[in-house]
Amino acid sequence: MTETVHFDKIENIGIIKVNNPPVNALSFSVRSGLVNVLNKIILDSTIEAVVLIGEGRTFVAGADITEFGKPMQNPDLNSVIAHFENSDLPIIAALHGTPLGGGLELAMGCNYRVALPSTMLGLPEVKLGIIPGAGGTQRLPRLIGPENALKIITSGNPINANLALDYGLIDMIINGNLLQEAISFAKKIASKKEHPSAKDMDAKINNFDKNIFNVYEKIIAKKMRGRKSPIHAIHAIKYSTELSFEEGLQKERELFKICHDSNESSAMIHAFFSERGAFKIPDVPKDTSLRKLDSAAVIGCGTMGVGIAMNFANAGIPVIVIENDSTVLEKGMSAIKSNYQSTLKKGRLKKDDVDKRLGIISSSTSMADVSKADIIIEAIFEEMDLKKELFAKLDKHAKQGAILASNTSTLDIDIIANSTNRPNDVIGTHFFSPANVMKLLEVVRGSKTDKEVIATTMKLGKTINKVPVLSGNCDGFIGNRMFHEYIRQAHALAEEGASVIDIDRVIYDFGWAMGPFAVNDLAGNDVGWRIRKRHKKEGKYDNLRYTSTVADKLCEMGRYGQKTYRGFYKYNKDDRGRLIDPEVDIMFEKISKEKGITRRPISDEEILNRLSWALVNTGSMILEEGFALRASDIDIVYIHGYGYPNWRGGPMKYAEDVGLVNVVKDISKFRERGDGMWQKCNLLEELARDGKNFSDFKYKV
Ligand code: 3HC
Ligand code: NAI
Repeated sequence: MTETVHFDKIENIGIIKVNNPPVNALSFSVRSGLVNVLNKIILDSTIEAVVLIGEGRTFVAGADITEFGKPMQNPDLNSVIAHFENSDLPIIAALHGTPLGGGLELAMGCNYRVALPSTMLGLPEVKLGIIPGAGGTQRLPRLIGPENALKIITSGNPINANLALDYGLIDMIINGNLLQEAISFAKKIASKKEHPSAKDMDAKINNFDKNIFNVYEKIIAKKMRGRKSPIHAIHAIKYSTELSFEEGLQKERELFKICHDSNESSAMIHAFFSERGAFKIPDVPKDTSLRKLDSAAVIGCGTMGVGIAMNFANAGIPVIVIENDSTVLEKGMSAIKSNYQSTLKKGRLKKDDVDKRLGIISSSTSMADVSKADIIIEAIFEEMDLKKELFAKLDKHAKQGAILASNTSTLDIDIIANSTNRPNDVIGTHFFSPANVMKLLEVVRGSKTDKEVIATTMKLGKTINKVPVLSGNCDGFIGNRMFHEYIRQAHALAEEGASVIDIDRVIYDFGWAMGPFAVNDLAGNDVGWRIRKRHKKEGKYDNLRYTSTVADKLCEMGRYGQKTYRGFYKYNKDDRGRLIDPEVDIMFEKISKEKGITRRPISDEEILNRLSWALVNTGSMILEEGFALRASDIDIVYIHGYGYPNWRGGPMKYAEDVGLVNVVKDISKFRERGDGMWQKCNLLEELARDGKNFSDFKYKV
């Protein structure tokens, strides 16, 4: 018995309780405790069956990820599971919460599994860049068949208890008290002579469509481009159908080790902890009081307003959408309806749920109707004067204590806040388009924003299923400030000789969802154009090389991108298929000549490095200036807001993997060209010089 594993006995049933908050991860103390307690039970001849259960919010949710990369302290998980599996006593895993990864593997090593209806079961290892490493790829196909196992293991997504029962992963759903019912179940099966054991089941692995592995490999190679662990997982599952259980386990270990030692897994584990770390704000402690958020208002029913309103409805928070133009309002409301209809058609929502969500979205053209809302999010045109005028109105109509938020993507939150008499209630909530889909929520802290408002808005982010990241109030905040430099660099490369398609190809092949020019076309070239015009007026380009001449010309020609079917590319009117537009490269050639730039062949390596380091150099400045708390926050912004490959861990993590010394060397070389594209970042240079990493930097509060 250890502190984390307890033993109990009720009549002739032994109870093993795991208590390792918060998620009962299989740390060394749990693994050793499980073995010790089972050994003790085996010695008690009056015990006829065993129930294994988790205390607190969940059954075991997996291996302890913080132990990865450290020397293994025995017993390892495989031997713990083998000990349970080979015990003469029947063992029932009583499941609730999220039995995931090693937790589900442990449960599969038991003879029976019973679960509460709300239980979510899964093997999410591929989301950490690894494969199940404690028999999951061998026992799951035996229990539920290779095809269902492929579905669960390659996606990493959990399934609910009903589906688990249908598949044969669990034996019974328990409605009522889990422990009591599991004990009753144990008493019933205790007298049976034989008990099922996953490792001995062979019916399902002998009878299935053998072609399924090829089919999956093709699907996954396309769907999870660049990823290795899901492919290794497919191979491991295939071994379960070709080899003995023991040989299959051995193969699984080998593949697990390859994954465990890979950059993919260190990057994805970095992303896992960074996502949770972003929620921690040093001067806004966990116990900061929260404001009530029972109702919301969204101002502006355009592209962003529609998506933002849906987020509230999806989370069950009543929301009113307010527009000053009734025709636009009607159009926006029908866009909301048709978004829900299409989710219904795809089978992702039931009609009842759609009706419930639509039932809590109301609309109005009167600003006075914000008066009941606990939070008001403004999503009107990106113009400071309009925003100031609107916030002054909100100040009049909003109730005391309401949070006043702006969805601005670039404007100064302090100026907006100061147009009210309650700047401490004002905050930025920067959603990404489409706002009902994209996971990132940049929460922008103004100089006067109340800590309570920050804590409540971060919590709201979680409630509406976003990943919130705190940013300081600089132009473009974290994401767009960096993206602006990335796009400047892409345009510079095109002026110097690289073609639009080569630049996009290099970035796509690296793993991004899209290259920079395709993104420009998707977001609308006019968006950047408007920002550049403002920056020009503010003198931001006075001492900088201007690289967006071609982008400006395209906008002057009305070529805004996908929405006008022409931008850097041409688009098919029927399916928006992307076509190369040779005219654009000719425009770049012409501009190069006019600017006196000698065009030259540019290697893929240079394209990748210049674009990657443009992000890292700017990210480092943001960090140095205190507008981001940590480099890992920047990584999360890029993974969830900009389509950066999560299996590379984010731009800052990628720079660390390449080595900050090498990054700085590259940047110095680029700077020698003297075109003013590479501002010096002291923080980055110092870290590289001292052999340190971003995590060595102490954040400013
Ligand atoms: N190991 C170590 N710490 C873990 C952990 C794990 N497996 N799972 C969660 N935590 C920590 C989190 O980092 C967080 O710490 P913090 O409070 O200091 O930030 C805390 O537990 C709570 O986690 P969440 O904030 O994520 O809590 P939620 O309630 O939102 O979610 C969860 C709970 C669904 C269990 C989620 O934490 C999760 O998905 N965890 C990872 C599960 C997983 O991947 N399991 C497989 C591990 S790999 C494995 O088992 C290998 C095996 O095959 C050999
Ligand atoms: P949009 O032009 O699609 O919608 C703005 C809506 O606001 C219009 O329907 C307009 O009629 C309405 N409106 C204007 N003034 C109003 C007022 N005083 N009262 C009520 N309604 C008013 O603009 P979009 O794209 O939705 O952007 C809105 C905000 O979100 C901007 O600040 C923008 O920078 C920001 N944003 C936009 C993103 C995008 O990809 N479109 C991404 C992230 C932020």
